[in-house]
Amino acid sequence: MHDRTVKVVAITGASSGIGEATARRLAADGHRLFLGARRTDRLERLVTEITAAGGTAATRRLDVTGAADVRDFVAAAEERYGRVDVMVNNAGVMPLSPLEALRTEE
Ligand SMILES: NC(=O)c1ccc[n+]([C@@H]2O[C@H](COP(=O)([O-])OP(=O)(O)OC[C@H]3O[C@@H](n4cnc5c(N)ncnc54)[C@H](OP(=O)(O)O)[C@@H]3O)[C@@H](O)[C@H]2O)c1
Repeated sequence: MHDRTVKVVAITGASSGIGEATARRLAADGHRLFLGARRTDRLERLVTEITAAGGTAATRRLDVTGAADVRDFVAAAEERYGRVDVMVNNAGVMPLSPLEALRTEE
């Protein structure tokens, strides 16, 4: 049995802004993170900082405009940690549509 109070959290758009801040906070709270975005230099710096502080984080380049890339990102997180408990779909810009419309190309 694993400790269900420790979550495996995949965060898209973790290289800056809200995603980066969320990663720092969740890492400080002891959760295990898998971080994606296009600017891998920033992600790698963040992972280095988190692990130096005793946290657990890994990264993979991710472009959320490709559905296959998002699937591969989640699969890589599952491979790394054995599961994904929480997906923080933070990356992106601002066009709005109903979730049920599944406009993934946006
Ligand atoms: N700030 C606000 O007031 C506000 C309000 C409402 C909603 N939001 C939403 O909250 C989210 C984060 O906003 P923020 O203010 O933190 O913006 P931000 O600092 O510009 O961060 C956006 C993040 O998304 C990533 N990203 C953008 N396009 C991507 C793509 N195609 N594939 C993968 N990652 C991508 C960026 O990383 P890379 O460039 O490295 O890929 C970056 O890490 C956005 O979805 C935004 O629409 C923000």
